[in-house]
Amino acid sequence: MMLRIPQVLNEQQLGEFRQILLQARWMDGRATAGHQAVQVKDNLQLPVDLPEAKSLGQVILHALERNPVFVSAALPKRILAPRFNCYQGGQSYGLHVDNAVSGEAGGERIRTDLSATLFLTAPQEYEGGELLVEDTYGSHSVKLPAGDLILYPASSLHQVMPVTRGARIAAFFWIQSMVRDDGERTLLFQLDSSAQQLTREQGAGSAVATQLGGIYHNLLRRWAEV
Ligand code: NI
Repeated sequence: MMLRIPQVLNEQQLGEFRQILLQARWMDGRATAGHQAVQVKDNLQLPVDLPEAKSLGQVILHALERNPVFVSAALPKRILAPRFNCYQGGQSYGLHVDNAVSGEAGGERIRTDLSATLFLTAPQEYEGGELLVEDTYGSHSVKLPAGDLILYPASSLHQVMPVTRGARIAAFFWIQSMVRDDGERTLLFQLDSSAQQLTREQGAGSAVATQLGGIYHNLLRRWAEV
């Protein structure tokens, strides 16, 4: 399942991010690419151990923890510290699949079930730079307002189209989910969303909503690894 989650960061946070990111020391993104990705990767990244990158990453993680749609859709077990990239001057990232296991050297490693991109510059600030994600329904083009996030299965083939004007700055990160299988996770998200909608329509005391909530938790009990 691909899911757009709007306004993960607010205007004030975006302003603070811009101020820091526009002055940051970017490095060649190929330094962290695997041997296949290095052939197609052409962008800039912030060094993962840069204090500014770490503190902005914490702001994102904190915002995600309090975002009910993200929590319901991702059912996160572990989230790798967000990283930051910048594409400009024709830079792009050709078609690839993310590594199945990712982490910092000598640090925590996670199985990458979900990939996330959080857009930090507005679509009108740059030309190109669409994230294209392939699934069984075809290719999906994603270019979102600043502050919005796209969540998609890390198993997907994807690419970032060349940025021919301006700069596209984004945060990206991987999530290990409590529910490894994308199909099971999608069913749980749909069930949770439906139960919540029913509660809104019928009130908190609705017997059917309570039953659906019970089914949700019993499926989660069956499928979750914690
Ligand atoms: Ni990727």
